[in-house]
Amino acid sequence: MDKFVITGGNALRGEIPVNGSKNSALPALAAALLTAEPVTLHRIPHVRDIRTMQRLLVDVGARVDIEDGVVRLEASKIVSPEAPYELVKTMRASSLVLGPLVARAGRARVSLPGGCAIGARPINLHIFGLEQLGARIHQSHGYIEAVAPDGLRGATVHFDRITVTGTEDLMMAAVLAKGETVLRNAAREPEVVDLAELLSKMGAKIEGAGTSTIRIEGVEQLGGAEHTIIPDRIEAGTFMVAAAITGGDVTVTQCNPEHVGALVAKLQQAGAEVTQPTAGSVRVRASGKLRSVDMTTEEYPGFATDLQAQYMALMTQAEGIAIIVETIFENRFMHAQEMARMGANIRVDGKQAMVAGPRALSGAGVIASDLRASASLVLAALVAKGETVIDRVYHIDRGYEKIEQKLAAAGARIERVE
Ligand code: EPU
Repeated sequence: MDKFVITGGNALRGEIPVNGSKNSALPALAAALLTAEPVTLHRIPHVRDIRTMQRLLVDVGARVDIEDGVVRLEASKIVSPEAPYELVKTMRASSLVLGPLVARAGRARVSLPGGCAIGARPINLHIFGLEQLGARIHQSHGYIEAVAPDGLRGATVHFDRITVTGTEDLMMAAVLAKGETVLRNAAREPEVVDLAELLSKMGAKIEGAGTSTIRIEGVEQLGGAEHTIIPDRIEAGTFMVAAAITGGDVTVTQCNPEHVGALVAKLQQAGAEVTQPTAGSVRVRASGKLRSVDMTTEEYPGFATDLQAQYMALMTQAEGIAIIVETIFENRFMHAQEMARMGANIRVDGKQAMVAGPRALSGAGVIASDLRASASLVLAALVAKGETVIDRVYHIDRGYEKIEQKLAAAGARIERVE
């Protein structure tokens, strides 16, 4: 198992480019199951979750060729409409094939994901939505089986809480359903909008993506398309925090500044200078003291839960007390204990964490518990005195491509060791 060895103390400087969005690429890959024609996707990040989705699609019967960030997919036939436990347990987003498989093949068998490091994360709303569209659902042996032999039919689905992949899954199911589907209380994340754009290029009729009501008029069939995935806003945000926490000056390039608005506001309130040199870049400069600023995670366009851990690392270096409230997942503070081992003063009480700073951090051996928690430990290590060794780096490899090389190019002392 790989580890990162990081020696803190260097301010980051220079440009750091971001990749295509993992959480946009995953549903886009699943969407290719909706057509027998070829789909070409550009800017697919080279991360482990993408390889897991590739394996899943190949098992289902698709041809998937990935080269230099370009994926060519062709699902001329669905051989086995199934997502096995072996894959689903390593990546919950595997449930994104549920909607497209029922829509295309009239049947899907997908393992239930089980527990997760950051919260319960059930898929009951995906299932509820498919039922509204006329699928018959049966659960046995840890699997959900959904059948719609005569196809799905449009319906109104009101999500009783906002779900990103649930919205995406239902959107993919509805594009081939007979008649109109209305998704209410839908997720408004940029990844949902990106998926709607891809589906529209494939011939789907979708209105309202990016708002909380999405209307989909089903069509007979979809065709091939070519599409470029949006930049990864969480990767961009991670580098922005890296600039601020190290008192550096970093321009994050090839990103969409609009998608990181909530983080920009917090960084500015904390005392960092944030500018937008070009339409596709954000520059973050920090010198002098940072101030503590409270933060509550919310669905988009609120502050992303996927940046909460990184923000907590930043607040360990800010003057005062910051209250961080996590509203999306029940158990997403695992990084707090690891940061405390590095000297941070953090008290967690249920959904709320209180961070008192600034505290001088010192390098220690720490364990990454999930993708974003790992990123936050890297950030904490960049300002810690001495050496930090982060174990279980495979978590970070799920969603960040070459993070150590990108940070090192901006002056960080970080090394991957086996
Ligand atoms: N929820 C339910 N029932 C459902 C679905 C969700 O109760 O059927 C709950 C979840 O347990 C959670 C909340 O609703 O408490 C929101 O979950 P959501 O469904 O929106 O999360 P997700 O779609 O499983 C995506 C991202 C996550 C990101 C969340 C929230 C992908 C592949 N994953 O997950 O990304 O944290 O939205 O923004 O898009 C990551 O990249 O590190 C990551 C975890």
